[in-house]
Amino acid sequence: MPAQTIAQILYSQGFGNRRVCAGLVQLSHVRVAGRLLDDPAETFATEGLVFDVDGQAWAYQAKALLMLHKPAGYECSQKPRHHPSVMSLLPAPLRTRGVQPVGRLDEDTTGLLLFTDDGALIHRLTSPKHHVDKVYEVFTRHPLDAAQLQRLLDGVVLDDDPAPVRAVAAEMVAPQHLRLTLGEGKYHQVKRMLAAVSNRVDSLHRSRFGPWVLPATLAPGRWCWLDAGVLAAAHAAP
Ligand code: URA
Repeated sequence: MPAQTIAQILYSQGFGNRRVCAGLVQLSHVRVAGRLLDDPAETFATEGLVFDVDGQAWAYQAKALLMLHKPAGYECSQKPRHHPSVMSLLPAPLRTRGVQPVGRLDEDTTGLLLFTDDGALIHRLTSPKHHVDKVYEVFTRHPLDAAQLQRLLDGVVLDDDPAPVRAVAAEMVAPQHLRLTLGEGKYHQVKRMLAAVSNRVDSLHRSRFGPWVLPATLAPGRWCWLDAGVLAAAHAAP
């Protein structure tokens, strides 16, 4: 089990540069197991370590993986143009350690947005090769009919690619509520697929991404840690 100095640990978890992290310890901001630390060179085993900075507990994460319940009115871009960035909803250490959204949701889309600082995991979750299913709750302008659902399942052609895109599943929950499962994530894909079948999206909410379901207890604007091991387990299952 690797041991690191508390200053290195704070640095790896995004609490600032090395000098700032040493200063946090020297200036009595950091506790482990309730004990106030004063030596930045004191070492700890990182696995399972919980430390406390200014009264807030943090569990050590070698790589960060978390989900945010994205509210409407936030952009996923790093350089937002018209609305605040989703990054502003995360605490500073997560931004400093470089977490980024896994794919994008439109400014007006709500729901499950993953973030990580693990580049390989971003690739694993977004590469079209891996077909990680995403589930969207789609509220439509016009009532849906069976023919529209069938066309979504058979495949529709979008304007930037002659190859049709197909829904993995399309379930009519109510006349104007469609539960749509997609295996890829093209730009504005849900909105463009619904337009291709002569309907229109009034509002859009992502309820699932791969094995992760947005919990009803996670309020809009709130986030929680996730375990990346769940992904391997989901794919190992028969
Ligand atoms: N498809 C869309 O059209 N918008 C989103 O935000 C996500 C998927």
